Amino acid sequence: MKGVLLAGGTGSRLFPLTRITNKHLLPIYDRPMINWAIEALVKADITELMLVTGGIHAGEFLRLLGNGHEFGIDRLSYGYQERPGGIAEALGLAEQFCDHEPVLVMLADNVVERSIRPMVDAFRANPTGARILLTEVTEPEHLRHLGVPALDDSGRVTEIIEKPESPPSDYGVTGIYCYTPEVFDIIKTLEPSGRGELEITDVNNHFVSAGLMAYDVLDGFWGDAGESIDAYYAVNDFVRAHGANKD
Ligand code: DAU
Repeated sequence: MKGVLLAGGTGSRLFPLTRITNKHLLPIYDRPMINWAIEALVKADITELMLVTGGIHAGEFLRLLGNGHEFGIDRLSYGYQERPGGIAEALGLAEQFCDHEPVLVMLADNVVERSIRPMVDAFRANPTGARILLTEVTEPEHLRHLGVPALDDSGRVTEIIEKPESPPSDYGVTGIYCYTPEVFDIIKTLEPSGRGELEITDVNNHFVSAGLMAYDVLDGFWGDAGESIDAYYAVNDFVRAHGANKD
């Protein structure tokens, strides 16, 4: 299984901090944000990684990570996204790297308390379609900033709505996704959304429509450190007090 870490975008919600560096290089407790995402993948035994980034600070990732061996990575590739055209567009750059293997995709501003290994192992055991990680979110205001699944009576996902006005459930879709290689064919069919991006939620809804979407509900804390300056500090406080990626 290959791993793709997405670390592009503009980081506009953390301006002006992100004028001087890439969002994913800002500190979370004692290390740059990207290192927590790398640790999450390496602890799930995903050691062939591609990091996709963009913008004027891209070279700093090479300076920080080099060949990745220091962080437990066997093979580290880099991809460059010319403009922030969306999460799905960034993932599309990893097609050749994935070389027809299943892939775990992680948005590098996501931080989890508990290891993602159970989800990854479940997908390894049954690599069909897609598998996503949901987290329980009780505040509707927070859900309005996320992808939110609608669930039927048997708990199956019937649709995912990106940043819904009226959230259809109490679950947010985290930025941690497993896909079969068909994901790259789906990306090629996408049209830009209202915000001009190729949306990962559109990718996920393809798998939902095909009846090929599985999910796990995350145990423990989840945070998107890029959501707002308050979220950034909430993630920092949490990690400082409790750590992350724990078994
Ligand atoms: O964090 C979870 C949420 O992430 C999900 O609930 C949403 O369904 C999903 O769309 C996404 O929402 P965001 O609004 O948080 O996405 P954002 O534009 O902030 O991008 C998230 C990460 O993806 C960010 O860390 C950098 C990377 N990215 C983003 C864009 C737009 C790229 O690598 N390239 C891009 O062009």
